[in-house]
Amino acid sequence: MNRHLISAADLSLEDALLILDTAEELAQMSERPVKKLPTLRGRTVVNLFYEDSTRTRISFEAAAKRLSADVINFSAKGSSVAKGESLKDTALTLEAMGADAVVIRHSASGAPHRLAGWVKGSVVNAGDGAHEHPTQALLDAFTMRRRLGRLDGIRVTIVGDVLHSRVARSNVLLLSTLGAEVTLVAPPTLLPVAVASWPCSVGYDLDAALPKADVVMMLRVQQERMNAAYFPSVHEYSRRYGLDAGRMALLPDHGIVMHPGPMNRGVEIAADVADSARSTIVEQVANGVSVRMAVLYLLLGGSGEQR
Ligand code: CP
Repeated sequence: MNRHLISAADLSLEDALLILDTAEELAQMSERPVKKLPTLRGRTVVNLFYEDSTRTRISFEAAAKRLSADVINFSAKGSSVAKGESLKDTALTLEAMGADAVVIRHSASGAPHRLAGWVKGSVVNAGDGAHEHPTQALLDAFTMRRRLGRLDGIRVTIVGDVLHSRVARSNVLLLSTLGAEVTLVAPPTLLPVAVASWPCSVGYDLDAALPKADVVMMLRVQQERMNAAYFPSVHEYSRRYGLDAGRMALLPDHGIVMHPGPMNRGVEIAADVADSARSTIVEQVANGVSVRMAVLYLLLGGSGEQR
């Protein structure tokens, strides 16, 4: 394993499987009455969040606490960042407090990479701009493997706002490492120019893609990152790229529906689909704790070699 987890591309097949297998063991331990392990006693994990988060932030905190680490939660709102303090000075301040790992979410793509050059501890990317969200991809892969029994050869269709999605990029990179076949389905305006170089195929017709998909992963329409009109109207987007019950019926019988959250119910996914038995959305959140425990354990706990 690398000392940091910044991109899903940092993970070899062996690294990715080690994380997923470790998460599986830790998930089984989490079903015991006493969930806490002493593994990271005396280590300090800092959650450095410059952007809003519910799932990622809470699950990193739960993961670190279940491993008995000390946890410092830092939110840019209400901190000296509001007085103009830079990321570097904030990072050095946290380093002086003895951070062994810094989990960072930032609106700027590349912020975790910069941070890794300034601190001695491990850096974990918890989402940087439209770049990457590697632990989301790991928890998604973990959920797929639990539901479908394997990852090699499965067909995953990722739908919607790929342009603004760090989840899509990390999933494409990780799933291709794990041997899955990924297809992106989106309006042409919501695909990055560089998508042709990604290890996946691209389509524009959701109805044609669904019968071949073992997994359909719906992406949130990130209106807060849109500074122009990428589609004629929300209604039109939903009509062509939203997953409603009629479309879900096009999936094979074993097909599952995923969404990283937060959802725009009624836009990219209908409420009855999100709440259906085929949906893994709540499981993804629960699995996030086990996967983030595995990441912290492997980066800080000293299992295996570090590069
Ligand atoms: N999926 C995800 O990253 O959710 P949060 O923004 O709530 O952390």
